[in-house]
Amino acid sequence: MKVTRRIFLKQIQAFSVGYITLTLAQINKKYNVTPQQIEGPFYPVKLPLDDDNDLTWINDQKQQALGEKIIILGNILTQEYQPIPAAKVEIWQACSSGRYNHPYDPNNAPIDPNFQGWGWMNTNEDGFYLFKTVKPGGYPVTNDWRRPPHIHFKVTLSNQEEFITQLYFSEEAKLNETDKILQRIPKNQQSLVITQLIKNERLKMRVGKFNMII
Ligand SMILES: [Fe+2]
Repeated sequence: MKVTRRIFLKQIQAFSVGYITLTLAQINKKYNVTPQQIEGPFYPVKLPLDDDNDLTWINDQKQQALGEKIIILGNILTQEYQPIPAAKVEIWQACSSGRYNHPYDPNNAPIDPNFQGWGWMNTNEDGFYLFKTVKPGGYPVTNDWRRPPHIHFKVTLSNQEEFITQLYFSEEAKLNETDKILQRIPKNQQSLVITQLIKNERLKMRVGKFNMII
């Protein structure tokens, strides 16, 4: 398993170098400030022992997390489109069945013991970050409201300022349209927090891009 992880990180390194150039070259004034959203109730109370940017393996456990493995990556930039290096990027999310590893999650979907649930990394000099995770499941909030699959993000800057938001998936349009949290964002800005997963032949996974202008 360790070999698998090493190989993966090598692939990612090669992949991200090409990707950074592309991403930064594409940035222009059409990008708007990323909308902030509520933190929600499920930020982990106890952080997992394994604290890296690969949420699909926990330490030396023999089993990988269930569900579709995906990559989420992007750059974090100032409103003047300058990369923000050394920002701490954290993500947390439900496992593939839609359950958080959190004592107050009322959902009775089975928890995946091999899913890390939370991860972090610091951005590099290009403001670049990357996570390997699984596509989260959606979950019920009330009888008439089901949250769409989403990933929570918290970015902490060197002055300790925090930027918090949530990322959604374009293929979940039906649940996105009825989500009471996403719909607090004006319609014309919602695409800033919705990613499209695109199959990457080299990584053999779907990859979603999420740039944050904060
Ligand atoms: Fe959530």
